[in-house]
Amino acid sequence: MTEPTQRPVVVYGVSGYTGRLICEYLRELHVPFIAAGRDGKKVQAVVDKIPGMENAQFDVAEVSHDVESLTRLFEGAQVVCNTVGPFIKYGPEVVEAALAAGCHYTDTTGEQDWLIAAQSRFGKAYADANLLLSPCIAQMYTTSEIAANIALETPGLDTLDVLVLWKGFPTYASTQTIFTILKADWFHLVNNEYVAWDHRAARECVVPGQHGTALTVPWGGMAHPVWFKNDPRVATVTATGGVLDRAVMDGVVATTGMFEEQIRPLEPAAQEAALSDIAAGLQSDMPPRENPRVNTSIDSVYASGPLGRAHVAIHGNSNYKQTGLLQAFAAYSLLQQPPRRVGFASACQAFGHRELLGVLRQFGLVLKPVVTVHD
Ligand SMILES: NC(=O)c1ccc[n+]([C@@H]2O[C@H](COP(=O)([O-])OP(=O)(O)OC[C@H]3O[C@@H](n4cnc5c(N)ncnc54)[C@H](OP(=O)(O)O)[C@@H]3O)[C@@H](O)[C@H]2O)c1
Repeated sequence: MTEPTQRPVVVYGVSGYTGRLICEYLRELHVPFIAAGRDGKKVQAVVDKIPGMENAQFDVAEVSHDVESLTRLFEGAQVVCNTVGPFIKYGPEVVEAALAAGCHYTDTTGEQDWLIAAQSRFGKAYADANLLLSPCIAQMYTTSEIAANIALETPGLDTLDVLVLWKGFPTYASTQTIFTILKADWFHLVNNEYVAWDHRAARECVVPGQHGTALTVPWGGMAHPVWFKNDPRVATVTATGGVLDRAVMDGVVATTGMFEEQIRPLEPAAQEAALSDIAAGLQSDMPPRENPRVNTSIDSVYASGPLGRAHVAIHGNSNYKQTGLLQAFAAYSLLQQPPRRVGFASACQAFGHRELLGVLRQFGLVLKPVVTVHD
């Protein structure tokens, strides 16, 4: 293991499933980086197995999960890509350290409560420092955000109905995250105001491109209500999603019901312990590397207004790879030019939806969007 030297990008959580994918794509974009994690040997063992790493410019760093140590690691860098989730639990130290070190911050969260917390707690400080604070640069939910923005290229549409589906196996931290978020309030957007979901809400959705339907849930509220809350084009956002495996979704609905009845009445610490136990029992192994023939994704958005409608469906594959690429591209872009918006901003607000679509297409991860417009 080498001592960290100055590299412009720090990827934190590289021993995990998503962190290593970000490193792969940074290599392909020729961006030098530091691969960091709480266990340096584990990080080294992981990067040693990434194909082609012998030609990448990187260092491995071990770091403790506290603001001081993280700040020391980030000093001299320009961008931090954080994959250590659940982010509502582990994110604040990393955001604080990135700000202290003068770095842009991105992460892979899908947690609406973390977006809202990060925005209110750190958004202004990042804007004042001319830095980007962009939680949730990830397949869930950047790909559907791209679809929404393509739909909104037709003016006069004010309502978004978002569907996010994928085929695959959540990783350990993803599973922890899915259960951690049960404790939070979840919101959709009605006329620019947050409205709480009933946690037991579920909807049967028509899936573009197939005859079968899919059972979906609010999945913590998703990111779109937060991103579009202050977008003058949009007033109302409903977003649901899940995996394209009905048995898994039946389990999610049943577990949510069980949480409401048996775990919500407990004290916060007991709630957390009960949820971690359930999550650990469900998934503890690293899922296999994604296979584009198996791990498909569908991001679909209906946008509507009084006098117009648009539908955009983006069929893709390998949603963790999409996340790795989106993160790596965000870092690559930030090294070359300032983001379009500083402070709290989504991937599309910071980098442009057409640009992000182009990158996903360039690497073979999504098809050309299927667009239908009636106006
Ligand atoms: N929105 C999306 O589309 C999307 C896509 C991908 C990932 N994600 C999210 O991103 C996060 C990471 O996912 P993943 O697939 O990479 O999960 P993972 O394979 O379980 O990796 C988690 C990483 O976090 C590290 N970690 C865990 N607890 C830590 C702690 N207390 N201090 C320091 N490091 C800690 C782990 O280190 P060790 O190896 O040392 O345990 C590992 O590097 C999850 O929250 C997931 O939901 C979201």
